[in-house]
Amino acid sequence: MALPPPSRSRQRIFFILCVSAFIIFLTNLTVITGTDYRDGIEILPIPQSLKRPVQRNKPPQLTIHEDKDDFSYSSEKADDHPIPHLMEKAAADFRQYQDSRSRTFVQAIGRYRKKYGRHPPPGFDKAGIPYGCREERNVYNIDDFDQIWDDLRPFWSIPPLELRKVVKGMLKEDPENSGLAGITIKITSGNWRTDEFVRMLNVFVKELPDMQIAMNRLDQPRVIVEWEKLQEHLNVEEKSRNLDRSVTNGFSRSRELGRADESMSFPIAGWFSASKKPYMDLASKACPPDSYARNNVTMDPAVAEAKYKFPNSGGLVSNFNISSDLCTIGPEIQDLHGMLFAPATMVATKELVPVFSECKVNVNNDILFPANMYYSDDPRYTYNPENDIPWDDKHTTVFWRGMTSGGSQELGTWRRLHRHRFVQLANGTDLHNTKTHLTLPTLNSTTTPPSYTETKNWDPSPFSEKYTDVGFPELAWCVPDSKCGWLRSFLKEVNATTALTDQFLNKYLPDIDGHSFSGRWHAWLKSRSLGIKATIFREWHDSRLFAWQHFVPMDNRFDDFYSIITYFIGLGNRKGGGGVYIPTHDSTGKRLAGQGREWAAKVLRKEDIEVYMFRLMLEYARLLDDRREMIGYGGNGRRMKEEKEWAWP
Ligand SMILES: *[C@@H]1O[C@H](CO)[C@@H](O)[C@H](O)[C@H]1NC(C)=O
Ligand SMILES: *[C@@H]1O[C@H](CO)[C@@H](O)[C@H](O)[C@H]1NC(C)=O
Ligand SMILES: *[C@@H]1O[C@H](CO)[C@@H](O)[C@H](O)[C@H]1NC(C)=O
Ligand SMILES: *[C@@H]1O[C@H](CO)[C@@H](O)[C@H](O)[C@H]1NC(C)=O
Ligand SMILES: *[C@@H]1O[C@H](CO)[C@@H](O)[C@H](O)[C@H]1NC(C)=O
Repeated sequence: MALPPPSRSRQRIFFILCVSAFIIFLTNLTVITGTDYRDGIEILPIPQSLKRPVQRNKPPQLTIHEDKDDFSYSSEKADDHPIPHLMEKAAADFRQYQDSRSRTFVQAIGRYRKKYGRHPPPGFDKAGIPYGCREERNVYNIDDFDQIWDDLRPFWSIPPLELRKVVKGMLKEDPENSGLAGITIKITSGNWRTDEFVRMLNVFVKELPDMQIAMNRLDQPRVIVEWEKLQEHLNVEEKSRNLDRSVTNGFSRSRELGRADESMSFPIAGWFSASKKPYMDLASKACPPDSYARNNVTMDPAVAEAKYKFPNSGGLVSNFNISSDLCTIGPEIQDLHGMLFAPATMVATKELVPVFSECKVNVNNDILFPANMYYSDDPRYTYNPENDIPWDDKHTTVFWRGMTSGGSQELGTWRRLHRHRFVQLANGTDLHNTKTHLTLPTLNSTTTPPSYTETKNWDPSPFSEKYTDVGFPELAWCVPDSKCGWLRSFLKEVNATTALTDQFLNKYLPDIDGHSFSGRWHAWLKSRSLGIKATIFREWHDSRLFAWQHFVPMDNRFDDFYSIITYFIGLGNRKGGGGVYIPTHDSTGKRLAGQGREWAAKVLRKEDIEVYMFRLMLEYARLLDDRREMIGYGGNGRRMKEEKEWAWP
């Protein structure tokens, strides 16, 4: 007992120190080398090369492909169909998106200031840290909130008091008739839409100051400011940018309109009804002077079309963003989409007023927020894996069910409504009766090597008969006969498989607008089926979803519908004696569906919606603050105590 034994606890502390040092070393290594963020992108094979795609080393925890079997092209030859070209481009854009995101809060702050020329709003460190960092919300791309900025930018031209008066004025008008719901952080009247909105806010409401929000309760967007006027607003905003001033990280205390203000006159929002009126009459004025929408008489439609269609591809969309830009496509589709020629309920204004809406078209000035349906647990819209069987077990069927919504159904015009057009386009009998013939890319064996050229005058009727199951389970809401007696001589009600999860028994799921956006879209993306999307609407999530990488885009005219589905399903056979031939590309469909599913699980979660809402509310609250030029997050993004950067995986 001459020497004391080495202290146990000291050994333990030393051991813990070593382990921590090693962990810190590893963490820094990954941050510096960035090796851990290359997640599930697989490299597309170069068309016509038959080499197997190079597999990158992927960390196992990031791959969510549950279908472990063949995901490569080895079973099918990669060929030069336009679709692999489009997918290759999308994969490159997506890789760029992933690689360029901020790794640390310091970086994110720097980017914010560089992009917007302002300090981030007060509380941004909270939006960035508790709601954005790995441990809590695990937001994938903390930079990708440009939509918020685009939506709010013009309002910087209106002084805060004026803005608050506008909001209060809108809500003072009879809320039932104006189609708006008021949300005063302390909540007034509401309906189901406000209930969800409030649920989203509740997560972080204690970080927000008092304020009033005017939320759109109608399906359609509301605000549409003329282009020239909007430019004036944007110019004022640009001049007001300032990064020199030091700012305080907190909102002003009392900003409610005081009692004395109640006697003030409130600005009029200028609502007018545009129901059943051509929407392009309003929309074209919100387009730039050199756009097709404002030059429809002198400009060649082919010039506009070249901006978003892949050449000689049977109409495939190469730029999904432009394919729904009304300034570019409006004149072509103004008679083909219900909202554009016969919106059921349209209350609009040309004044720049802050109204929160779930969707809009590209020329609207509504402020987007994540649609309530995406946050709710409503089984009609929420992904339910019950019948989402593995791809290989699904029916090779294009499946669609929906309500007869989209616009006012009248005898003279119903055939032009987008949903009705789609249903007829997938109706073999109707295609046959109307002698419809289409153009699509097919394999041409007379060229060496065999390549795709457009076949014209193709009769889609037999193919449609075999592979599509599309229709309305119920015919309702017609004018004048709400039971739709007259419509029944053209359409019939089909087997009512409307349970969301039953639809996943099929491989191919088109998603078509209704009165407004389709609330099923997140469920489609989260499923193992492949979503095919046509829409004229913009939503909060647009910049994080890549067409041809996570889903298949479709033109709003649907002229590319058969080019898309014949590529995946295949058509005819090689020895078919002069008939058209397209090899099947089933595993490409499976891979796209898997990519969409994996990505949706990462960026369309409730947490992502909450963070979007939080950042939106911080920006909006600053806009309404009398001291908005003097408040903001002025820090550099380092953690106060340890001067250590926050880092994301
Ligand atoms: C072209 O624009 C004029 C004026 O806005 C409009 O009346 C007309 O319907 C448009 N035509 C087409 C084909 O878009
Ligand atoms: C095949 O390609 C050749 C050369 O481009 C063209 O002349 C021919 O019309 C094409 N055949 C079919 C069936 O598309
Ligand atoms: C398909 O079209 C035919 C002929 O126009 C029509 O009789 C039938 O009801 C339609 N089917 C569906 C499902 O709408
Ligand atoms: C309608 O649906 C039921 C139940 O899903 C199914 O058994 C039946 O075969 C379907 N009928 C048709 C005509 O598709
Ligand atoms: C869509 O295009 C517009 C105009 O070209 C651009 O400002 C916007 O950032 C694009 N949006 C997305 C999501 O790419």
